[in-house]
Amino acid sequence: MGHPESRLQTPAGTLAPGHYWMPFTPNKDFRAHPMMAVKAEGMYYWNQRGDKILDASSGLFCVAAGHARPEIAEAVRKQLMELDFIPSFLRAHPKAFELAGRIAKMTPGDLNSVFFTNSGSEAVDTAMKIALAYHRARGQAERQVFISRERAYHGVGFGGVALSGMANNRRAFGVGLAGVAHMRHTHVPQNQFQRGEGDHGVELAEDLTRLINLHGAENIAAVFIEPVAGSTGCLVPPKGYLKRVREICDANKLLLVFDEVICGIGRMGSNFAAQSFGVTPDILTMAKALTNGAQPMGAVASSERIYRTVIDSAGAQAVEFFHGYTYSAHPVSCAAALAALDIYEKDGLFQRARALSPYFLDAVFSLKDMGIVTDIRGYASMAAFDIAPAGAPGARGHELQKRLYESGLHLKTTGDTAILAPAFVAQKQHIDRMMEVLRKVLKTL
Ligand SMILES: Cc1ncc(COP(=O)(O)O)c(C=O)c1O
Repeated sequence: MGHPESRLQTPAGTLAPGHYWMPFTPNKDFRAHPMMAVKAEGMYYWNQRGDKILDASSGLFCVAAGHARPEIAEAVRKQLMELDFIPSFLRAHPKAFELAGRIAKMTPGDLNSVFFTNSGSEAVDTAMKIALAYHRARGQAERQVFISRERAYHGVGFGGVALSGMANNRRAFGVGLAGVAHMRHTHVPQNQFQRGEGDHGVELAEDLTRLINLHGAENIAAVFIEPVAGSTGCLVPPKGYLKRVREICDANKLLLVFDEVICGIGRMGSNFAAQSFGVTPDILTMAKALTNGAQPMGAVASSERIYRTVIDSAGAQAVEFFHGYTYSAHPVSCAAALAALDIYEKDGLFQRARALSPYFLDAVFSLKDMGIVTDIRGYASMAAFDIAPAGAPGARGHELQKRLYESGLHLKTTGDTAILAPAFVAQKQHIDRMMEVLRKVLKTL
């Protein structure tokens, strides 16, 4: 029997998804105003009416090489026919080792041990477990407190939710994990309309010292930081902030984890934001652009010291780290990631994105002349602007992305903030078109 809502019609006449409980979506509103896509290629989606929709957010920060890359499709097809699945517990396949090696070459410092997950959320939870396992292995099991920041987004596992600092993602889910303390975020009003790193706010790194004094360094496992906070609206760190956080972590023997689920794989102009900002963490998470969005995959890169400490803590026949997912290092995800990394490298896409960045940021910052825009931030290939709220918080932002989609622009919003993250294959004409549609639609709000 059909769910009553499954008989709802979209404007194009196809059935709306009544059974489909959509994530991070006002389900009722979606059914009244469905925003569908039935095809994607290059910089564009197409809806079921055949309208072409320019993708201003790489899907959701994933599709950095553009949609429907034949090289990735072919690698996926080939892998499915060659070796579709093998568990990663007690078994392995060559591409898992190959991909781990490729990632290790891209990471800064000695972040050479790569653990595979299926999403950013799993990468974050895995990083938390690695930090706890590391401290236990070196005889400091009391280090169990985690520090993160207000306005952070670290995914939706209970670990990641506890670390996150976005109220809507926390308030419905009880007390969650104990033992997480939040530093202040760095979005200070003095940096309004600041392009790149802010001149103000480096002193907010000292908030870490406040929490160390409160909880005791000997009880703290790790500090989680998104180098540039993405989902909350491209909060670029103040100049010198990340370096100072690193110094404080070192002085207190705290692990520093960079959550680079969005920042990693070229988005910040280098392989990882760690390299863009010249600060090397002890653990680094990634996901999103790793497979160009073609397969779900995340990964956690740890320093050699962390890996050795955990591995050497158990006997020769013993499992050292009781953690993993059925689909960790899935052969098809590995094949997709290898094909995506090949494209990024062969087509020089990180360099290409870096070259387009000034043009992109000029364009986004030109929106400053629109009265409704109250702040703009940007770094490398990501930028965000806030609009003045009207009605409930987020209502106007929600309306904005709906009207944009109707007008042919796919763009991610969080609350009353719009976030642009074009694919690295974007050209000036695509940026121009994004601005044209944005200006037109912002005037209607
Ligand atoms: C910094 C960060 N961490 C974790 C996640 C969670 O990733 P996923 O949605 O793949 O679980 C995200 C997703 O946007 C993210 O931006």
